[in-house]
Order: sequence, then C-alpha cells, then structure tokens
Amino acid sequence: MKKTAILLLSAVLALLVLAGCREEKKPTVNPPDTGTAATETETETETETETETETENETESETETETETRAETEPYVEPEPYIEPETEPYVEPEPYVEPEPTPSETAPLPPPDVTASAPVGYTSKGFPVEVRDGRTYIGGLLVVNKTYSVPADYDPGGMTPECADAFYRMREAASNEGLWIYSDSDYRSYALQSWLYQSYVDRDGQELADTFSARPGHSEHQTGLAIDINSCLLSFADTAEGKWLAAHCWEYGFIIRYPAGKEWSTGFMYEPWHVRYVGTWLSIPLRDSGLTLEEYLGIDSVYS
Ligand code: DAL
Ligand code: ZN
Repeated sequence: MKKTAILLLSAVLALLVLAGCREEKKPTVNPPDTGTAATETETETETETETETETENETESETETETETRAETEPYVEPEPYIEPETEPYVEPEPYVEPEPTPSETAPLPPPDVTASAPVGYTSKGFPVEVRDGRTYIGGLLVVNKTYSVPADYDPGGMTPECADAFYRMREAASNEGLWIYSDSDYRSYALQSWLYQSYVDRDGQELADTFSARPGHSEHQTGLAIDINSCLLSFADTAEGKWLAAHCWEYGFIIRYPAGKEWSTGFMYEPWHVRYVGTWLSIPLRDSGLTLEEYLGIDSVYS
C-alpha cells in the first residue's frame, strides 16, 4: 500500500517534471516577420506535445524502476563546486608612444671640416699628404721646409700651446740638473722672417743665405712650433746645455731639426740650437732611427 502510494506520487512528480520540460521547449520568441506562419507553427507544436506525453506515460514505469535501482546502488555524490576558470588578469595595454626620433633625423650632421681635404697624394713612405688652407700636413703633421710653405697670413700668434707646454717642462727638467736653457727665438711672423732673410742675403748673398736662413713662408718659426735654444752658434753643441738638449729633447716631443751631415735631406746646415716640436709619437722613432723628418716621412726639401 505504502509502496503503491510512493509509486503514484513518483508518477505524478514525473509527469509534472515532464510537463515542465515540455513547456521549456516551446519557442518563446517568434522568428522575425513570420506573421501567420508563426501561428501555424504553434498549433503543430501543441499536437506533437500531446503525442509525446502519451509516449512518455508508457515509459514511466521503466523510468521509475531505473530511478529506484540507482537510488539503492549509487551513493549520492556531491557535485563538484563550480570553479571560475582562471583567467589572466586584465592588464591595461601600454599606450602607443611615438618613438623618439634619432638625432640624425632632427639635426643635420655637423658639416665636414671645410679646412680638411682628401689627401692630394702619398709620400714615398706612404704618408698621406693633405693641404688645408694652404698648409701642408703629412701624416697629420704640419710640415714646413724648402718644398712646403705656409701662407703669408698664417699667424698662430706665438708658440703653440702644446709646444710651449713641452718647452716649459723640458726647461724645468734641465733646471733640475743645474742647466739653464731658454728661448733665443721662437715664433717669427712672415714679415720678420722676410726682413731677417733679406738681411742675410744682403750680407752673404742668396746662395749662402739659403743654407741657413729660410725664405719667408718656408720657416718653421712662423708655425710657432720651432725654438732656437740659447745661442745660434755651432759651439752651442759642445756646451752642457747643448749636449743635454741633444740627449733629452726627444723625451718632450722635440727633435733636433737640422742634424749634422744631413743638409742634403733637410736643405739646411747643422743647427744644434733649432728644435721643432712634433710630439713624442714622432720624436721617439726619429731618435731611434736617426732619420731626419724628411727621410722618415719620405719627402724632400727643395725650393721650386
Ligand atoms: N734657420 C732656419 C732654417 C730658419 O730660418 O727657419
Ligand atoms: Zn731656428
């Protein structure tokens, strides 16, 4: 009796559930612009629902039996709680920033050194020869001799800073050894060299004057890189200062510019007092090689 009541109750519940499912299957939204067609569809659906309900009634007892069996054999399992799938946290994208233009796009490159020029050639020793504002640089060194001159208006205004600095250091070193060296003559203007040279020509004639005095524009003294030390006499070479100068001037970037026995190379007679600043990068190899500047660079010294 009790079992029958339970079965009846289950059947009623099943019918109610099935009726609810049927209700959910009904279209709730008409398709757009269906009009009369939509009404026909609803009628057909109702008919189908009745038929299906009858069929379901026939299978009720089977369903109930299955439900009972499951209830007896399968333990109730708590459904897994719904877990929100992990998602990457939303990150605000970086705003697009226009890249900074490179300097070359905003500012033109500095103009090339207008005083520089491509080498006009190479010496026999492979040093590049460049001409800048009428001055000749060989291997980057300003060269002045009988072949190469400087313009009349070239005026460094005195000893160049690097030459003066080297000279003061050399003078202090000599002083520390009890020797006194000084500048008898250093920078000379084109005008002063013109007057000096002409005075020697007037006294000794041009051929002899050309062996010891440079023509205007051809004197290293106009470059501010040459210094006559103490006295312009050959006897200077035999003094303590003269010997010290010959032995140590290289250490400060100077060279004895016109060595003895090298007139054929330099174009000038031996001048133990005349030093030229070239920098130690050149003074040391010149000392070690015993070569003149002309020999080392592969150039000559001849008036054209
Ligand atoms: N005594 C050197 C050669 C000059 O006059 O420059
Ligand atoms: Zn000199």
